Amino acid sequence: LVLLLVALGLRSRRPRSFPPGPWALPLVGNILALDFNNLHNDMTKLAEQYGNVYSLKMGPVWTVVLNGFSTLQEGLSKGDHMSDRPAFPIHTDVLPDLGIIFANGYSWKQQRRFALSTLKYFGVGKKSLESSILEEFRYMSKEIASHKGKPFNLHFLMNNAVSNIICSLIFGHRFDYKDEKFLQLITLLDKGVQIEGSIWAQLYNAFPVLMRRLPGPHHTLQKVYRDIMDLMKTEMNKHREDWNPSDPRDFIDCFLTEIQKHQDKRDDEPDACFDEGNLVMCSFDLFGAGTETTSTTLRWGVLYMAKYTEIQEKVQEEIDSVIGQSREPSMEDRPNMPYTDAVIHEIQRIGNVVPLNLPHMTNRDVQIGGYTIPKGVIVMPNLTSVLFDKNEWETPNTFNPGHFLNKEGKFVQRAAFIPFSVGKRVCLGENLARMELFLLFTSFLQRFTFSMPPGVEAVFKPRFSITLSPQPYQICATLREE
Ligand code: HEM
Repeated sequence: LVLLLVALGLRSRRPRSFPPGPWALPLVGNILALDFNNLHNDMTKLAEQYGNVYSLKMGPVWTVVLNGFSTLQEGLSKGDHMSDRPAFPIHTDVLPDLGIIFANGYSWKQQRRFALSTLKYFGVGKKSLESSILEEFRYMSKEIASHKGKPFNLHFLMNNAVSNIICSLIFGHRFDYKDEKFLQLITLLDKGVQIEGSIWAQLYNAFPVLMRRLPGPHHTLQKVYRDIMDLMKTEMNKHREDWNPSDPRDFIDCFLTEIQKHQDKRDDEPDACFDEGNLVMCSFDLFGAGTETTSTTLRWGVLYMAKYTEIQEKVQEEIDSVIGQSREPSMEDRPNMPYTDAVIHEIQRIGNVVPLNLPHMTNRDVQIGGYTIPKGVIVMPNLTSVLFDKNEWETPNTFNPGHFLNKEGKFVQRAAFIPFSVGKRVCLGENLARMELFLLFTSFLQRFTFSMPPGVEAVFKPRFSITLSPQPYQICATLREE
């Protein structure tokens, strides 16, 4: 037994060139010492003790955590040596294809390029998409108005509406808010996102053989994945029935055309994975990544407006003077609305919706912060450490739109504002998200004033997972014309 313990102790020792970090237990490493309800803050605090580059052991797997703006810049922006993604058993056990988010190398580059150009073709950054975002707002606005200023929870309405915008791009249509099946899927996605950031998912990735046999929420997560994949497959099959390559309606139609092109490819060409499995997986990625993030940001936005009523009023004053009440907002209004723009940026900064970023992996030996990180090591670029860095922000823990305004009240871009990350893996939906955030947030405050129900205080302690979201809350939305 003693020999076994010594052997385990030796095996769990930190490799010599590795950055420092807390002492890791044999087998479980540091997993049990971390608070999975507050992981982003735990990770940020560890940097105070061990420096901006430190290492942790998640079960048997070494992970390097990068903290602070300049370290993330150094790690992610210079070259592509950290742009791979690790393969996690919790995904690979049920998702056979890699799509975009978890793809690497040639296939990832091709799929990413294709998705970006297809989203652009269907209007991301253009007027045509503006009208479909505003159309979605009209549906949502009717629902919100139906509560007549009484408290209600807008969580799933927001998820549904934001999801419809990405669904219009992928499937060419939206879903009715009363579509039970779709609502169930959106609810499942939300549940899945919560489990994805929990200790269960970490344990599964660290000990897959054991966890496959043990009951627990990790199986619910895998069921959620399967259900979403089924929706994607159904949509793909429906598209096949009336697909006309010369008149593409959406992302799926374009992907079907791409599959046809690649069927004629020569054997010696590298595989870009344009096949049906990857069509389903790429649609899954865009749907998942495009729903939860933007919707959560807007839910934070509504909560902050209900709490800071004087800021809400200032945004409404700007809306009234630049847009008025007789027309809808447009992206062209943004340069004339510095205060609103600053408020949206501050919501994103303090909302910190993807607190620990998505995991990266080194694809060669990498020097960072004076340490050598070998090829194949998981890297966590901690976005919280940048968005709350006291060297970058005057009042990092306070909601302060002034972070993005100069003395003359003009909007100023801040380099450390990186909620979409930076480098080769930077969020693929950034332009879409920015359009959604501006148009929806402005439309909300043009039509409604938000307040907390009488006697209820806004709670800002977030629910930690792969995203940071507000605790469920009730809100009152009063029509402004009343
Ligand atoms: C990746 C944030 C909206 C699609 C990411 C990453 C972050 C992020 C932090 C990881 C970057 C990295 O690994 O370094 C956000 C935020 C959003 C948002 C804060 C909204 C406020 C969207 C939307 C879409 C989208 C609307 C839909 C098109 C993706 C995809 C990736 C990604 C496909 C993976 C990119 C890759 O691996 O190459 N996002 N995102 N995101 N995002 Fe977003």
